[in-house]
Amino acid sequence: MGAGIAQLCVEAGLETVGREVTPELGEKARERIGHFLTRKVEKGRLEESERDAAVARLTTTTELGDLAGCDVVIEAIVEELGPKLQLFAELDLICRSDCVLATNTSALSVTEIASAASRPERVVGMHFFNPAPLMPLVEVVRAERTGDEAFDTAYALGERLGKHPIRCHDTPGFVVNRVLIPLLNDCIRVLDEARVSPEDLDAGLKHGAGWPMGPCELVDLVGIDVHVRASEALWQALREPRMAPPPRLVAMAKAGALGRKTGRGFYRY
Ligand code: 3HC
Repeated sequence: MGAGIAQLCVEAGLETVGREVTPELGEKARERIGHFLTRKVEKGRLEESERDAAVARLTTTTELGDLAGCDVVIEAIVEELGPKLQLFAELDLICRSDCVLATNTSALSVTEIASAASRPERVVGMHFFNPAPLMPLVEVVRAERTGDEAFDTAYALGERLGKHPIRCHDTPGFVVNRVLIPLLNDCIRVLDEARVSPEDLDAGLKHGAGWPMGPCELVDLVGIDVHVRASEALWQALREPRMAPPPRLVAMAKAGALGRKTGRGFYRY
């Protein structure tokens, strides 16, 4: 997600600092962005000079301190509250006082994440959808103490990135995941209930309900771990049985079969 969001930023003409935990991961993200922009050049949707200028707008680093000069920071780290709280406490100290701090959390409470900052009014949710460069939506999430300035900045940034932003409040799963996560969980339970293969389930939803990709392909794309954590967060918050992650996904997450990013999920990549 981080690389996808960084790609949107450099394509929109913004000087961008991408922070990764190792230089190798930073380089991988740069290559990924370069690859997709080159595909656009090959398809005649981008000039070569525009691609080169976009790639040049990206700096990668492993140091949080290099974010000190940014106007906006968009966090897209692991979907766990502890590491996010620690990161927002650090960003709060490092970043300029007028810098907006956004979280791309899928289903954690933005209000809780904001509590780590001394000025929670500058914290807002900016929830992108996977793959971020292709999916038009961004949910701009107002937490309990989000200030108007931070909210408006995040909304305007969503527009500048070419997205269709929608405004919502900080409720479990916001708008789309509140609906999509239990729906995907239902789909995964059907695998066992109807004794259907992932291929047939995917074909069913694609050809019978007009989905652009099947549920198994989609969970593989999102990441089994990300989906399980988001389900757990919704289950904790709402206690609706459909929100609880299906055991089959929990087992896959434990086994490290996380979908596309590990080369194995419902499918092999
Ligand atoms: N950046 C830029 N371009 C990319 C890209 C990326 N990250 N990933 C793929 N592309 C490009 C590819 O280069 C490809 O072109 P090429 O084949 O000529 O190289 C082009 O996009 C189209 O790729 P596809 O042929 O795979 O395109 P499709 O027409 O099949 O559409 C899709 C792909 C948009 C992903 C479509 O299948 C879709 O809409 N799927 C549903 C996705 C969805 O529901 N996402 C939401 C998940 S939920 C979520 O994210 C919330 C979170 O909180 C969990």
